Amino acid sequence: MKALTVVPNQAGSTKLDDVEEPPASDGPVLVETLAVGVCGTDVEITSGNYGWAPPGRERLVIGHESLGRVREAPSGAPVAPGDLVVGIVRRPDPVPCANCAVGEWDFCRNGQYTERGIKERDGYCSQHYRIEPDYAVKVDPSLGHLGVLLEPTSVLAKGWEQVDRIGGRAHWAPARALVTGAGPIGLLAALLGVQRGLEVHVLDQVTSGPKPELVEGIGAKYHTGTVSDACDQPDVVMECTGVGSLVFDAMEHMGPGGVLCLTGLSSGGRSLGVDAGMLNRSMVLENEAVVGSVNANRRHYQAAADALAKADKGWLVRMISRKVPLEHFEDAFVRQPDDIKVVIEVGE
Ligand code: BGC
Repeated sequence: MKALTVVPNQAGSTKLDDVEEPPASDGPVLVETLAVGVCGTDVEITSGNYGWAPPGRERLVIGHESLGRVREAPSGAPVAPGDLVVGIVRRPDPVPCANCAVGEWDFCRNGQYTERGIKERDGYCSQHYRIEPDYAVKVDPSLGHLGVLLEPTSVLAKGWEQVDRIGGRAHWAPARALVTGAGPIGLLAALLGVQRGLEVHVLDQVTSGPKPELVEGIGAKYHTGTVSDACDQPDVVMECTGVGSLVFDAMEHMGPGGVLCLTGLSSGGRSLGVDAGMLNRSMVLENEAVVGSVNANRRHYQAAADALAKADKGWLVRMISRKVPLEHFEDAFVRQPDDIKVVIEVGE
């Protein structure tokens, strides 16, 4: 079958490969892949900056934002032939650590977790894949091809859960949220914020293209300029850029008791001048919290599936700005100015 493979840490090594059908050891559920979304992590992998091949192998099948149709499933499995499904990305570490042992692999403590399409396990960008029944998440049939947005949404469902759990340490009735970055992650963070009843402000740099309209389309407010101009003293900040200076600006302007959730992965190598003493002082005096959040467990996929099912379909359609046939995969990794979510079409 055809699969998109890469030699991790080798830029320019991505190719459309002929590979063996997926091994039975990957799980009894056989899925025909329909689409795979492309995110910053995939771009990092294909540029040679991230990713690990399965042990003993040179190449990794990439793709972790998936949508597929079940072809075979054992009776009694939570998914059945014909169902639309999304594959969970992470698998628990083999030890397992205390968190992986209870299904909270997104909080793996020893770093020995694996991730499909990213770390030591083949991903979903192949014509078929196999999966364990408990790692296939059923998608509401009314979503159709929009189900490919489920994995990135799961990352934000986890982020919001962290915010609520931390906020809930005292009386918690957040009113205003700031989202930094209006890429797919920022837009999905904003969607979930609006669904929670918050007044949501989104900060980005561009003044044209689809971002301002998408933000306004969910009833949030779009801003360019500084953090404090966009929303001073928010109760929640969802940081979706990974830009160091924005992270510190957000910390400085958070409201009392506020929670700042970091979801963006930055590359290192840049230093900033910050008044660490002042920042510490205001965070202590105002009980503020900063939390990093990565990946998602099954509970978050379920929350994401529920959130997408109740979102406006027309808005979700506009989130997918470009579809690229598998044969032209190179185009999917070259950013175009109006890109939001780019999707590789693998099947029909
Ligand atoms: C994926 C996560 C993953 C993270 C780090 C993200 O792009 O959505 O599932 O844990 O990359 O590898």
